[in-house]
Amino acid sequence: MTVSPQAIDAIAEVVGRGHVVTDPAMTAGNCTDWTGRFVGQTPAVVRPGSTGEVAAVLEVCNRHRIAVVPQGGNTGLVGGGVPLAGEVVLSLARLNHLGVVDAVQPAVTVGSGVTLATLHSHAAASGLAYGVDLAARDSATIGGTIATNAGGLRVIRWGDTRAQLLGIEAVLADGRVVSHLGGLVKDNTGYDLAGLLCGSEGTLAVVTAARVRLVPRHSHRTVALVGFADVGTAVQSALRWTTAIGGVEAVEFVTGAGVDLVCDAQAIPLPLPARWAAYILVEAAADTDPTDAMAAVITATPGVGDVAVGRTAGERSRLWTYREGHTEAINRVGLPHKLDVTLPHAALAGFINDVPSAVEHVAPNARTWLFGHVGDGNVHVNVTGADPDDNSVDDAVLRLVAARHGSISAEHGIGTAKKQWLSLNRSPAELSVFAAIKSALDPEGILNPNVLLGG
Ligand code: MLT
Ligand code: ZN
Repeated sequence: MTVSPQAIDAIAEVVGRGHVVTDPAMTAGNCTDWTGRFVGQTPAVVRPGSTGEVAAVLEVCNRHRIAVVPQGGNTGLVGGGVPLAGEVVLSLARLNHLGVVDAVQPAVTVGSGVTLATLHSHAAASGLAYGVDLAARDSATIGGTIATNAGGLRVIRWGDTRAQLLGIEAVLADGRVVSHLGGLVKDNTGYDLAGLLCGSEGTLAVVTAARVRLVPRHSHRTVALVGFADVGTAVQSALRWTTAIGGVEAVEFVTGAGVDLVCDAQAIPLPLPARWAAYILVEAAADTDPTDAMAAVITATPGVGDVAVGRTAGERSRLWTYREGHTEAINRVGLPHKLDVTLPHAALAGFINDVPSAVEHVAPNARTWLFGHVGDGNVHVNVTGADPDDNSVDDAVLRLVAARHGSISAEHGIGTAKKQWLSLNRSPAELSVFAAIKSALDPEGILNPNVLLGG
């Protein structure tokens, strides 16, 4: 789309000329998603420094019908945060205000540009923690994780991002500010705007701040990495451990092939004495050492192979490397089709077994990589070696998911990558409600118009 010089001038008047970046060499990073699969271009990256500036910028954009893509740390994986149709990028990075932690009713208000890692350190300084964590923590922002309702590693204990929200401040498409940051745990005063905006992928409003609950920071934490000879036994054991292990926070799945790939990428040895077909990483945290109780459950589980245990921060992080190293190691193989899905627990092992042949059927030269948050039913299906523009792989995997009553997006969102398959999970009646909400909140259709329902 073309944006008139007058509109750019009006935006620059709000944020200052230095915060309107138009040089393509400087905006290239904002126009390419993390995987490299989604690449666009923009007339300008606009960097407001306050909620008031976001409001004034949106008022200008709405008046001039300028499409806007809100952007946080640009760690999204479904092409939902990059300007694929020449939209203006609204970077929220400068909204990095950290409020005072309330330790009595554990919560804090933070700007949407604060990174997850910064929020973790801020909460830790008050002896608390934030319940959402994920590998992209150093770049992913609170605003971005709200826009996508990010899940990550600790959903089985603390829930997804929506479950952390006690209040939200956001700017509507026409520049009006909606703010409800009082943070009361019980607050039944009408529609839950925080819940609605969370997961709306920047299509309904631009989140500028949030009040989030904080959780206890436990003094003892243990990680175990366990090898299994077959995927089915690994997955069934993992699902049992989500309730059998006290204080369990994470139950993650990787395959032998995925671990080999991480070892190659990082030039590190295999994690266990033998190579296993599947591995489960389990982490527990408590105020007393959870190691013995955790070890008792693991060793009593039929089919368990080698086990490595990490208690110190260094040992734990060594074991996590084999899980968290997957995303980068897969990207080194080639541009991945990233299909992030949830299956009902009873269907999970069968799906993991069957999905590689479903992919091979439509893309014989492609390679399927499987890993993820198996404790909550979420598996990341990554496919390399298929043309980035060839959607037959996506189609085969997402139809298999729907046929088995799963969700085509567990935590990454719909973005542009999955919008053509949304009707696999959502009925015509639901989609018409979505469309009505979108046109009520954004009648000119300027907010991230090409994701979720649009385009
Ligand atoms: C993860 O679980 O590591 C993230 O969702 C990123 C990814 O799927 O690659
Ligand atoms: Zn994930």
